[in-house]
Amino acid sequence: MTFRLLLGSEARMGGSTATPNGEAKLAVEGLSFTRSRATADGGRSEREVLRDVSFSVGESEVFGVIGPSGAGKTTLLRLLNGLDTPSGGSIALDGQDVAGMEMTDLRRRVGMVFQTPALFRGTVGTNVGYALELDGVPREEREGRGIACLERAGLPPSFWARDALELSQGEQQRVAFARALAAEPEVLLLDEPTSALDPAAASRIVALVGGLNKEVGVTIVFVTHLLDQARQICDRALVLIGGEGVEEGTIPGLFDCPACEATRLFIEGRLDPHGLVGNAAPDGPDAGGGDR
Ligand SMILES: Nc1ncnc2c1ncn2[C@@H]1O[C@H](COP(=O)(O)OP(=O)(O)OP(=O)(O)O)[C@@H](O)[C@H]1O
Ligand SMILES: [Mg+2]
Repeated sequence: MTFRLLLGSEARMGGSTATPNGEAKLAVEGLSFTRSRATADGGRSEREVLRDVSFSVGESEVFGVIGPSGAGKTTLLRLLNGLDTPSGGSIALDGQDVAGMEMTDLRRRVGMVFQTPALFRGTVGTNVGYALELDGVPREEREGRGIACLERAGLPPSFWARDALELSQGEQQRVAFARALAAEPEVLLLDEPTSALDPAAASRIVALVGGLNKEVGVTIVFVTHLLDQARQICDRALVLIGGEGVEEGTIPGLFDCPACEATRLFIEGRLDPHGLVGNAAPDGPDAGGGDR
């Protein structure tokens, strides 16, 4: 079975910008990303990691991106945050193309929490304070604002002076949330934020995300391959498989009545992404051969 046959183009939802809440907060249209790297013989190898991905996220929505390992979920978030530049397609925030935006403005409006917390050496205050500094907050206001962010992320003020790298993974992930919240983002991109945590810490993070969305109204794009988590927290989701957005819809719609065969196999735990990658059509996202 080849990847392209499996997807079934009629089931795809590219081009949709309609959301239950009206105008899209984030509208992604035909997004592609090709990785290029130098080869030993002096040439270049290219590999399309995302192809023609389209979806839209409504204001204050919790939008899931679900799919198997290697599907391109992290790559997609990196494009949304401006960490990488798309090879094609567009991303609009409140109807404005992000390609024309100052990177500092984009990063302030669209925050990101990574799979692993990625804190830097120093105190929690240094980590959160740096984000506030980048956001132009005067030095004398940083501690007060930063502690408020810690509390919003479920950590007491005493954490401000703690050594960031001596905290548990769950605590570090909360600091990463606080750091992302410091800039008061309109959109928060969360890349499997519970992947390094035990079930209890993971539940607390999921509750934190739900609370943030309800209390602050921040729009959330939540990447996960855990279906229970998606069910618990997301309003709608995009199913990303093999670099392609195969289906977008409400969680009950996707889970209980998927339109696409690949979604059904993924939800039933029967999709073999490695098999798919190996069998991808020559013009598929893996054309050009693996570079890893
Ligand atoms: N720095 C890199 N250099 C080359 N290829 C990469 C790099 N990062 C990711 N890839 C490849 O791009 C594809 C998508 O990777 P990505 O990390 O976006 O997947 P993912 O859906 O986030 O997976 P996971 O669920 O395991 O985190 C994979 O085939 C991966 O091997
Ligand atoms: Mg990832």
